[in-house]
Amino acid sequence: METQELVLSMPRIGDKAPEFKAVTTQGDINFPADYKDKWVILFSHPADFTPVCTSEFMTFAKMEPEFNALNCRLVGLSIDGLYSHIAWLRTIKEKIEFKGMKNMEVKFPLIEDITMEIAKKYGMIQPGESSTKAVRAVFFIDPKGLIRAMIYYPLSTGRNFGEIKRALIAMQTADRYSIATPVDWQPGDDVIVPTAGSCGVAKERMDHKEEMTCADWFFCTKPLAIEKVLVK
Ligand code: BEZ
Repeated sequence: METQELVLSMPRIGDKAPEFKAVTTQGDINFPADYKDKWVILFSHPADFTPVCTSEFMTFAKMEPEFNALNCRLVGLSIDGLYSHIAWLRTIKEKIEFKGMKNMEVKFPLIEDITMEIAKKYGMIQPGESSTKAVRAVFFIDPKGLIRAMIYYPLSTGRNFGEIKRALIAMQTADRYSIATPVDWQPGDDVIVPTAGSCGVAKERMDHKEEMTCADWFFCTKPLAIEKVLVK
């Protein structure tokens, strides 16, 4: 299909997550209404019964309890049909062993999207990569139903699910404590205090009136204990 013939939209950070109703391996869902007050990682994969996707699903199945503990639900999507999804997930559980993972049961919903309606709404079809398969997209959707971050990977590259979890925790921590997180931040590391917005605050920072370390007025960090980050 020619690129121009596809009507595609590309959601942006801060947009409301596009709404849809879908059939999934865990029953019908109404998105994002069914996930009110929860974070959601909505992610697409190119196709069932493919090796990179299989390795990703096994990893997400293994990590699902860690995401649940962060008040986050996982929802997958590909432009395959429901029976393909069911057969693939059964095969993963019954036959596939990878990096010490076996008998992995995918308990989160996997959306069927043979019409590509949802994939198109979410910019998961990127014709320069493929017009018949979704790219590896990841959407972080917050409890208010807003898109907070997106990551796109090409078909050939499996995602780093540790990074997806790290980014989720960083966003939750930024919301909870009104801070930002520096490069490669991990829970327990120092966080960034928002840049001073006035000369008075800049001076206070440099006078060290608050509990923080300032390399200069615009670059201040402070400790944030891991127990405060990983609160329920
Ligand atoms: C895979 O999951 O292995 C895969 C899917 C589509 C294209 C290339 C690789």
